[in-house]
Amino acid sequence: MAEEKTLIIIKPDGIQRHLAGEIITRFEKKGFKLVAAKFMQISESLARKHYGVHKGKPFFEGVVKYLSSSPAMVMVWQADGVIAMARKLMGATFGYEAQGGTIRGDFSCSRGYNLIHGSDSPESAEFEIGLYFKGEEIVEYKLSDECWLYGQND
Ligand code: RTP
Ligand code: MG
Repeated sequence: MAEEKTLIIIKPDGIQRHLAGEIITRFEKKGFKLVAAKFMQISESLARKHYGVHKGKPFFEGVVKYLSSSPAMVMVWQADGVIAMARKLMGATFGYEAQGGTIRGDFSCSRGYNLIHGSDSPESAEFEIGLYFKGEEIVEYKLSDECWLYGQND
């Protein structure tokens, strides 16, 4: 599996509902490496760029308003295959459909208010990370337990 980075956002409802620590803990315990983080108010224009792929869809204006409605926690997490794994931890898009055990399945019963965003491909990860972080804000370092996480102890 290739080493990847993914953009994860704890959306405004995740912050307002005091779930930031719980969500970050799940990524930490899985073994992902946090390489950038920013607590910020996402502007409407940035939210429009972020969800640009959905422009013209009936939910576009609503999702832009939602993402820019209150502060969010924007992070970059790194691991081999992190993009797909993070989506699995997040669960299906709508909280009321997401499997128990996932973040959305455990904490959201809404349609659009689903607590968290995660990049869905290497291309969108690169685009989305560039929207929120400069290259020098991504921190390169080694986790001391990497050999235990990936089972490479020789
Ligand atoms: P996200 O981009 O936020 O990680 O979510 P996702 O990939 O699971 O879902 P996506 O299809 O990209 O939709 C983006 C966000 O728009 C809202 N949405 N509402 N009312 C609707 O039919 C509808 N569809 C999507 C959700 O907040 C979703 O996270
Ligand atoms: Mg998406």
